[in-house]
Amino acid sequence: MGSGADEDYSKKQANQHPHNKFKLKILLLVILTNLLTIYIFTGPFTSNHLSLPLWDSATIFNDLSSTRMELAASHSIVLELHQHLNSTNLLVQALLIELTTREHHHAQHEESTAARKLSLSDTFVRGTGDSSFGLPEEVRLAIGSHKLPLGYSPRSGSDEVISPVGAGCFKFQEELVQYMTYEVGGECPIDDVFAQRLMLKGCEPLPRRRCHPKSPVNYVEPAPFPDSLWVKPSDTSIIWDPYTCKSYDCLIDRKNAPGFFDCKDCFDLQGREKNRWLFDNGRLDYGIDQVLQMKPGGTIRIGLDIGGGSGTFAARMRERNVTIVTTSMNLDGPFNSFIASRGLISMHVSVSQRLPFFENTLDIVHSMHVLSNWIPDAMLEFTLYDIYRVLRPGGLFWLDHFFCLGSQLNETYVPMLDRVGFKKLRWNAGMKLDRGKEKNEWYFSALLEKPMT
Ligand SMILES: *[C@@H]1O[C@H](CO)[C@@H](O)[C@H](O)[C@H]1NC(C)=O
Ligand SMILES: *[C@@H]1O[C@H](CO)[C@@H](O)[C@H](O)[C@H]1NC(C)=O
Ligand SMILES: *[C@@H]1O[C@H](CO)[C@@H](O)[C@H](O)[C@H]1NC(C)=O
Repeated sequence: MGSGADEDYSKKQANQHPHNKFKLKILLLVILTNLLTIYIFTGPFTSNHLSLPLWDSATIFNDLSSTRMELAASHSIVLELHQHLNSTNLLVQALLIELTTREHHHAQHEESTAARKLSLSDTFVRGTGDSSFGLPEEVRLAIGSHKLPLGYSPRSGSDEVISPVGAGCFKFQEELVQYMTYEVGGECPIDDVFAQRLMLKGCEPLPRRRCHPKSPVNYVEPAPFPDSLWVKPSDTSIIWDPYTCKSYDCLIDRKNAPGFFDCKDCFDLQGREKNRWLFDNGRLDYGIDQVLQMKPGGTIRIGLDIGGGSGTFAARMRERNVTIVTTSMNLDGPFNSFIASRGLISMHVSVSQRLPFFENTLDIVHSMHVLSNWIPDAMLEFTLYDIYRVLRPGGLFWLDHFFCLGSQLNETYVPMLDRVGFKKLRWNAGMKLDRGKEKNEWYFSALLEKPMT
């Protein structure tokens, strides 16, 4: 959020200029820029829609060539003005941000409502907000800053600590406050669905809370390993309230139910799940053993499965002595609890979050179906760089069934993967079977490697 830097900067500025003169200057600048904008977009030349005078047909032909030249000339003037406008706008934006911060510093007793709203995240972080902001104390305790004990020399270079939360928390403040409304020391509300929606909106990580999650009644110990990998967990091991289904049998039967559910048949460990990644069809379906054989025996030891459903990839890898952490959301089902019941490690993080691993550490990253064309391109590129970051040199990225349109395949995704720097060990593309032909829908699977140097 970088508000610390803004703050320092504004403090410096504050010492150099009187407050009100500064405000006036900015106001003038805003007015000037707006006038310039109005002039450009209503003036005699605009870049896209030229309004020509209504000449008679004879003169049109005569004047055509000279008009063209004039057009070209005015077009370049417009471009130049646009560029000017762009940089002026950026300047104004920067100044406005600064002004907001200054407002907060110098006029704490006469803050305007607008300024309050703009500097709210700043207030949280610095922990200087008062009750007039209408924010519960618990929110400020959870995500405000805390002074370190005197005499303690911090490794961070700051004498305060701030609990990290997603930037989206500040954007959805009402929901944040609702999430943080509970009895301290008591039982947390059952708000899994609500909390997960908040996460998916960018409030990830969520703030910590001081309440206890409701405990399942009649909890029984999990099945012992390795049997736990393939048995149905006890129904009393979780709280069913957030889900439509109220038992694992219901979730298993869901594969026959109408309607769309995320990972619809993933809870049936005796069905399709039982055979996943065991066979290599030489096309989109790669086999785990075939992939592991690409590397010297035993050198693929630890890794990550992004969006790993009910955890079967990790289970199969565990049987081969490879430890896989599975990330999953609980969309339409208790995926995290289910994975954990199998004796596998689940992490409740979305694909948006920076991977919580150090760079050059993992032997393998796998992801099936989740990374696809629904992710905005820019965001996907950051995700791919993050995967590259956590993989060790020579580490494998198994991109399993990436869904996209035929046109996007060569235009967007192949260049993107090249740009990030992966080396292709294996590549297969194929049209989606059911309706691929009519809609030009494709999958590709790839085994990529982070270069050794
Ligand atoms: C102005 O900025 C926008 C967005 O940053 C950019 O798309 C556009 O090309 C810029 N225009 C000029 C003329 O520089
Ligand atoms: C996994 O490790 C155990 C213990 O070291 C060993 O006995 C077993 O053969 C290994 N399994 C495979 C598939 O490598
Ligand atoms: C993408 O490019 C490859 C190689 O140039 C070509 O063989 C393939 O048909 C293209 N795929 C699509 C879906 O256009």
